[in-house]
Amino acid sequence: MTGAEGKSDSVTDPARLDPAQLDPAQLDVARLDPAQLDPAQLDPAELDAAGAEAELARLAQEIAAANRAYHQDDAPIISDAAYDALRQRNSAIEARFPALKRADSPNEKVGDAPAAGFGKVIHAAPMLSLENAFDEADVIDFAARVRKYLGLEPQATLALTAEPKIDGLSLSLRYEGGTLVQAATRGDGETGENVTDNARTIADIPQQLVGAPEILEVRGEVYMSHADFAALNARQSAAGGKTFANPRNAAAGSLRQLDAAVTRARPLRFFAYAWGVLSDPLSDTQSGSIARLNDLGFKTNPLTTLCRSTDELIAVYTAIAAQRATLGYDIDGVVYKVDSLDLQRRLGFRSTTPRWAIAHKFPAELAWTELLAIDIQVGRTGALSPVARLRPVTVGGVVVSNATLHNEDYIAGRNATGEPIRDGRDIRVGDWVEVYRAGDVIPKIRDVDPARRPAGAIPFVFPTLCPECGSQALRDAGDAVRRCTGGMVCPAQAVEKLKHFVSRAAFDIEGLGAKQIEMFFADPVLPIREPADIFTLAARDAAAIAKLENRDGFGEKSVKKLFQAIETKRIIQLDRLIFALGIRHVGESGSALLAAHYASWPAFEAAMTTAQVGEGAAWDALLAIDGIGPVVAASIVTTFHQPAERAAIDRLMAHLQVQDVAPRQIADTPVAGKTVVFTGTLERMTRAEAKARAEALGARVAGSVSAKTDLLIAGPGAGSKAKLAAELGVETIDEDAWLALIGSA
Ligand code: IVH
Repeated sequence: MTGAEGKSDSVTDPARLDPAQLDPAQLDVARLDPAQLDPAQLDPAELDAAGAEAELARLAQEIAAANRAYHQDDAPIISDAAYDALRQRNSAIEARFPALKRADSPNEKVGDAPAAGFGKVIHAAPMLSLENAFDEADVIDFAARVRKYLGLEPQATLALTAEPKIDGLSLSLRYEGGTLVQAATRGDGETGENVTDNARTIADIPQQLVGAPEILEVRGEVYMSHADFAALNARQSAAGGKTFANPRNAAAGSLRQLDAAVTRARPLRFFAYAWGVLSDPLSDTQSGSIARLNDLGFKTNPLTTLCRSTDELIAVYTAIAAQRATLGYDIDGVVYKVDSLDLQRRLGFRSTTPRWAIAHKFPAELAWTELLAIDIQVGRTGALSPVARLRPVTVGGVVVSNATLHNEDYIAGRNATGEPIRDGRDIRVGDWVEVYRAGDVIPKIRDVDPARRPAGAIPFVFPTLCPECGSQALRDAGDAVRRCTGGMVCPAQAVEKLKHFVSRAAFDIEGLGAKQIEMFFADPVLPIREPADIFTLAARDAAAIAKLENRDGFGEKSVKKLFQAIETKRIIQLDRLIFALGIRHVGESGSALLAAHYASWPAFEAAMTTAQVGEGAAWDALLAIDGIGPVVAASIVTTFHQPAERAAIDRLMAHLQVQDVAPRQIADTPVAGKTVVFTGTLERMTRAEAKARAEALGARVAGSVSAKTDLLIAGPGAGSKAKLAAELGVETIDEDAWLALIGSA
């Protein structure tokens, strides 16, 4: 399955949304970490760079956690709509702030790495995801982009297919000489799981083909029908076994069984809708290829329709949406694909999605419920975040009992600039509120019903003192968030910082998750109050009279394992270390950029120690890193100059050995690593197409000519850029020479 495809509405247990009751493995998703919620209520258009960076970090983390839950655990924690909304928000922010795009951007990944237990399959052609459209305007925009990219005349018809988007999991089937030789799940899009034995048990999947290309990879969706799902759950519960939250989970759980006999007993089905590697083309159109797959014996979706305009696409969408409830299997939208395979080839791919297709998703879900209380949580960076405690309500199949209220302005009915939102209606305890699940992993409150407000409900008073440590909680000018000023003395900040330190993308210490951190943080005998304490834990335990191994919940073995896990993390990668420090605004991608630039801890530390905010060579060098802006830079430099924070870092470093960063590998193409500029009219492709091709070959495409330019590709009408290139001695070639250079003349 892909990262962009439907997540299922599978969280039926309200406890899963209550951070206090969560499994530590899931905490990073459902935890209402105020530090991460700060800018979350803002429209991407309203975010400043710092807010955008924080949002991208939060979204990367939440999407990754959702992916893990979905792909590896078959236990989604968020709904389709919520997942899509997260990715959409991420894309919108990346589009506004391209420089802040993270190295681990969810848009650079599809799904998650394969789970342990299955053999791995490297996909000969990557298994991609689809871009999403949420309304008609997105569809019109998609068609317009395709036309522009291809340079189509306004009167030219663009044919597209429309077909249901099946809510199952994708599978790639490889046939050699007509025989099924391998079946693989998507995994992360590059590497999937080998589920050949299991796939052979599915009746819709032919084992032999007659008249097929010598090599044929068929791709499609494994799913379970509603009737089969209900019967399976009935059997499971009668036998005292596990029941599944929805058909998608049941299909995923059934296909990914280590014992194929279990899969055989589960009624799985398969629709073919795409292909990977082929020795001969199936047809010259999408619709023709699907028809050919059908002739070869594959089930293809009978609702697939060839359309000649966006109006026709929308009409098919509406018709399919109307049939959704009676189809007998889950679908979560309609997929549109450019019909001509020649145009598909020209349009090509972005990193994880084709430019020639889009998934038009069905809309998100809403529900009304009662607001029981508003709690304030304090996060790693001191942000005070209001959390709504709700009378549990089902929103799109998911029971929701907590939701974010963003910040004090949001509760009061104002936005960041003081303008009224919800027509200025404030939110009070006791109110009926509308919960919205498409906007976030964490549900949101969208509206309030003043007609149902109980008599005597009073406006919510946002605290100005930290509820955890009593320090002043202040708002900086222009910051929507009120923050505790307690710093290292605030226990809530300290414990959240520690949780961050041990989190998956940071030190990732097995056996030391959020739950254990909370326990050790409060422990009088063997406390962990700052990161350095983790690395003295074993020595302190050895010297203690009351040993850890004699405590409830611990044993000799588990303590030994924990200490070993800590030992192995004394050697750490530089990017992980920087990320683990939990410096505000420094997320995974920022850490990776810093690590790549400074390459070693001594170099990084020396630079941060020397740097002064806003001046000097070290500051300039920091800002010169592509992707590091002034807000991020100031945050790092300030941290290194804050005496208490700096001392804690120094205490930690006494226990660590930091691995230097190896120089990056550059792709092996004639233009890899080169900076190229296109100017003038290109005659054989549009500018966008040229740029995408160049980038795919490892070149950097710049907008203007400078001394750093390696190559100018000049078409007819090239003007000042060509002149400047000549002055600077930059090599200049025409479009044909460029195509010859990249091997596609
Ligand atoms: S086409 C290159 N067609 O949705 C893109 N995908 O969100 C190939 N899916 O990864 C996918 N129904 O798992 C395509 N009719 C359909 C689909 C479909 C469901 C899934 C598939 C894909 C995901 C993208």
